[in-house]
Amino acid sequence: MPTQGLTRVDFPVLPQHVGIIMDGNGRWAKKHRLAIAFGHRAGTENLREIIRHTDDLKIAALSLYAFSTENWRRSTDEVAALMQLILDFFASEIDELDEKNVRITILGDKDGLPKKQRDTLLEAEARTGKNTGLRLNIAINYGGRAEIVRAAKALAEEARDGRLDPAAIDEEAFAQRLYTTGQPDVDLLIRTSGEMRLSNFLLWQCAYAEFIFPEKLWPDFTVADYDQALTEFAGRARRFGGR
Ligand code: IPE
Ligand code: IPE
Ligand code: MG
Repeated sequence: MPTQGLTRVDFPVLPQHVGIIMDGNGRWAKKHRLAIAFGHRAGTENLREIIRHTDDLKIAALSLYAFSTENWRRSTDEVAALMQLILDFFASEIDELDEKNVRITILGDKDGLPKKQRDTLLEAEARTGKNTGLRLNIAINYGGRAEIVRAAKALAEEARDGRLDPAAIDEEAFAQRLYTTGQPDVDLLIRTSGEMRLSNFLLWQCAYAEFIFPEKLWPDFTVADYDQALTEFAGRARRFGGR
């Protein structure tokens, strides 16, 4: 069954790659006088519909910011709740995602995660690695600067070992060493909850992204809100430096 909401023909143009900074779970919990973990749980409940709708619209790629390298600064209880949600999300969604031909890629340093989470993520990537549908990127233990440093290091090592001519390093070569290798740049970046910053998300890939900052807190963000952002995107004049 297709999701509620608009269909591809309703949009004169759609982004190829959407990034979402799912922010506002903490404030949502506070507003409802609930423990923070409930806010994060509520934040995974609308996620399924957002992913489905992205798939229905045949948008090529969706990148979701789930856990930043800076989020380790939160309390051990909150980090534990988020780590548990990662396991729960994959346990409940992986079958449908795989069935829908979605290819999952984890953006971020999986080696810095507990073994259970690491194994779950590796398994999801391996299981869906040959799928040819929606590219679903989930950023976990991710930082944009760390990603850029990692790419620079890879290039340096290849050059040192004589496998790469430094003169051949260009933007394309650099982009190939990022987690999003082979994917289009982010066209539309949505951050919920009214915060207007990147918080270290996809710094390279967002170079020419359009930014939309809905006021709604992430758990309240619906498919209709998503369609509204996509409609606003379609009305933006993108110049890429030209006239
Ligand atoms: C975003 O919600 C989810 C994560 C960072 C994992 P927050 O927890 O940052 O929500 P606010 O910003 O405190 O409302
Ligand atoms: C960014 O949100 C990270 C995620 C949504 C996963 P934060 O809430 O952690 O960002 P800051 O601290 O407000 O910049
Ligand atoms: Mg936040």
